[in-house]
Amino acid sequence: MVKKKACVFISGSGTNLKALINNSRNYNFPINISYIVSNTKKAKGLKYGKLYGIPCDIINLNNKLKFEMFINKLKNKNISLICLAGYMKILSKSFISRFKKKILNIHPSLLPKYKGLDTFNRVLKSKDKITGCTIHYVNEKLDSGKIILQKKVLIESKDNIQKLKFKVQKQEYRAYSEAIYKIFAN
Ligand code: GRF
Repeated sequence: MVKKKACVFISGSGTNLKALINNSRNYNFPINISYIVSNTKKAKGLKYGKLYGIPCDIINLNNKLKFEMFINKLKNKNISLICLAGYMKILSKSFISRFKKKILNIHPSLLPKYKGLDTFNRVLKSKDKITGCTIHYVNEKLDSGKIILQKKVLIESKDNIQKLKFKVQKQEYRAYSEAIYKIFAN
């Protein structure tokens, strides 16, 4: 099976990146993670690039020249899927239009609920009994693209931000890969 090439964008700890890399090693998984991009050199997840021998770049997409060079690099590398995994920058319309229907994002709530930041805090302040995570296509509106897959998590009275984050992220590690299987099965 010839696997497509994917790039993962991160800004932080990169635990979803790690799960994607591990799952992508399964023979039947449709993609290989062949490039990692961060907007900051402080992203702890960059260590997985070294650990698994995957090239990494720190990119500032606000610089016009660098932006074009980066688009060319993605094309030259034959990247056919971009997975945002804790990437904290908003992608420009022009970037999104270059990779229409090829950018995915993971969000730690059951979208359309709780778009944006500070999700767990807002979920805990609500009276909701269930939350979860969502994998969706990226469009020009924040956390609003077509939903591919969601996984649910029960909110318990003992939950605080850390406990809830732990439970949701456990589901995220499965959800992202399942969503990728799903889109390539179609
Ligand atoms: C995840 O919880 C994801 O839902 C959100 O950012 C977090 C990234 O965590 N978009 P990590 O960097 O993958 O550990």
